[in-house]
Amino acid sequence: MVNILAAVALLASVGAATDSIDSVAPKDLAVTSKVSILGVAKTLAGGVMSYYLGNATTFADLPKPYYWWECGALLGAMLDYSYYTNDSTYDDAIATALMANVGPAYDFMVPEHWLDEGNDDQAFWAFAALSAAEHDFEQPASLTPAGVPSWTAISINVWESMVGRWNTTLCGGGLSWQIFAENFNGLNYKNSASNGGFFHISARLALLTGNQTYLDWAAKVWDWTTAVGLIDKDYNVFDGTDSADNCTTVNPLSFSYQNGIFLQGAAALANLTGSDVWAGHAAGLLNSSRAFFTPSDNATNIMWEHACEGVGRCTTDMKSFKGYLSRFMYASSVVMPSLASNISTYMRKSAVAAGQSCTGINMDGAPSANGTTCGQRWYVGGFDENVGLGQELSALEAVHGLLVLDGVVDDVPSPTPSTTTTPTPSPTASQQSGAHSMAPLDLRWTVLGMACALFAFGMA
Ligand SMILES: *[C@@H]1O[C@H](CO)[C@@H](O)[C@H](O)[C@H]1NC(C)=O
Ligand SMILES: *[C@@H]1O[C@H](CO)[C@@H](O)[C@H](O)[C@H]1NC(C)=O
Ligand SMILES: *[C@@H]1O[C@H](CO)[C@@H](O)[C@H](O)[C@H]1NC(C)=O
Ligand SMILES: *[C@@H]1O[C@H](CO)[C@@H](O)[C@H](O)[C@H]1NC(C)=O
Ligand SMILES: *[C@@H]1O[C@H](CO)[C@@H](O)[C@H](O)[C@H]1NC(C)=O
Ligand SMILES: *[C@@H]1O[C@H](CO)[C@@H](O)[C@H](O)[C@H]1NC(C)=O
Ligand SMILES: *[C@@H]1O[C@H](CO)[C@@H](O)[C@H](O)[C@H]1NC(C)=O
Ligand SMILES: *[C@@H]1O[C@H](CO)[C@@H](O)[C@H](O)[C@H]1NC(C)=O
Ligand SMILES: *[C@@H]1O[C@H](CO)[C@@H](O)[C@H](O)[C@H]1NC(C)=O
Ligand SMILES: *[C@@H]1O[C@H](CO)[C@@H](O)[C@H](O)[C@H]1NC(C)=O
Repeated sequence: MVNILAAVALLASVGAATDSIDSVAPKDLAVTSKVSILGVAKTLAGGVMSYYLGNATTFADLPKPYYWWECGALLGAMLDYSYYTNDSTYDDAIATALMANVGPAYDFMVPEHWLDEGNDDQAFWAFAALSAAEHDFEQPASLTPAGVPSWTAISINVWESMVGRWNTTLCGGGLSWQIFAENFNGLNYKNSASNGGFFHISARLALLTGNQTYLDWAAKVWDWTTAVGLIDKDYNVFDGTDSADNCTTVNPLSFSYQNGIFLQGAAALANLTGSDVWAGHAAGLLNSSRAFFTPSDNATNIMWEHACEGVGRCTTDMKSFKGYLSRFMYASSVVMPSLASNISTYMRKSAVAAGQSCTGINMDGAPSANGTTCGQRWYVGGFDENVGLGQELSALEAVHGLLVLDGVVDDVPSPTPSTTTTPTPSPTASQQSGAHSMAPLDLRWTVLGMACALFAFGMA
């Protein structure tokens, strides 16, 4: 009896802790206060989701100018939001969107993007599935009739499809950026987002399952990537290389998320193997990530996208990249605690700067009219009037992961006695209600209605 009461009280306190959180303006972020981080994250999650036009029961692809892959990236961010904050508000929408995009073979190869889906696009959806697996994110019964694979099995399906595409005809191996020969853009281009994505998926699967095959492939992809120079001896990660010249020259552009993709993979392998070699690779990548911080003396440890922000040339895709470096850094700090102190130094400073960029009011059709719309550049000390989904996503990911860092003060008020007697319904109960029942055949496949072959060279 005592145990049952304790369990009810625990449930209630989780519910109360999230339900009672008030939104906080991002500019007021206090990085060591749990209640402040939760309040700011809540505001930013609302900003992100205002761009998503689906709901708890119906998927809708992102509107132009956002590509389909960024929807997978958004879901990865929201899975972390739900997990770090315990705010389950968006869980049904997240689950519905993921399940609407697994595709007929449960590997995120979707008919709508046949011919234009790239390996890196598929990888970003797989990152979300891996987070769902790692976080034990519930697969609602209504969306998962018998035979629907687990999040882990879906991630493995993606991995299997990538193994099948590993191509040793040129360059001694590697994945091409694109999957389909019909896409003239990138069959020759072997890029770090695709190969890093494969490495990262292999590494997280190895840690999740303990299966040696994934570890072996992670090592193989790493060895290839370093051999062709996509990662140099100082752990700088470059955008890609061209198989037309057998990968003898490297495109020297470098973006934050590429570093992060490899960082989390290496940190996961360090955790799994206990090996100094992988720990050294992760530490080296964290060291080289300094290239994405401190754009000027008055902006120490503030993250920036150095290849495009300073010159005002960021594409829509690039405006979201800082979010993924943030995400992969937090995840790395969890599996490799020796990195946590430096990551903390970077992310506390960057999260505050990100928050200070979020004071926009109804800019350019941006959905939030509330003085909390985020700008793009965090190092300018305010709102730079450049708004969009990537900007909201980046700020959210910079902020919510602060909750995993040491030194966060638990200042969330305890639940009052009245709330402890009325725990909120568990997600299981609500997801089994009639409103949520949906056969897989009813899932709407939203046609993007445009040829997504227009990716910028080496991006996306
Ligand atoms: C604006 O934000 C504040 C706190 O950040 C919130 O309390 C309020 O409900 C928001 N208003 C609208 C219209 O979204
Ligand atoms: C979800 O969106 C669909 C399509 O726009 C709509 O028919 C449905 O009523 C919406 N459901 C809820 C709960 O808002
Ligand atoms: C979320 O819930 C878990 C499990 O009850 C708890 O350990 C964690 O501290 C909670 N997180 C927040 C931010 O309240
Ligand atoms: C492997 O790469 C070669 C050279 O680019 C190409 O001709 C061939 O079609 C590729 N094989 C597969 C299975 O994609
Ligand atoms: C292409 O590169 C691979 C790996 O670096 C090498 O083994 C192979 O000999 C090269 N092929 C040619 C034709 O140079
Ligand atoms: C390990 O993973 C590989 C690749 O997915 C699979 O073929 C094999 O069956 C797995 N081994 C075990 C013991 O699960
Ligand atoms: C952490 O930062 C300090 C100071 O910049 C540096 O000396 C150290 O090598 C860094 N450690 C890691 C693991 O990056
Ligand atoms: C850190 O990176 C710098 C270049 O930015 C390099 O000179 C230095 O050797 C690296 N340190 C470590 C420990 O890898
Ligand atoms: C592995 O990661 C877990 C968290 O998932 C952490 O508690 C543990 O300390 C890590 N182990 C090592 C050897 O880094
Ligand atoms: C740093 O200095 C530059 C140039 O004077 C200025 O534009 C920028 O706003 C400053 N950044 C911060 C965070 O104060």
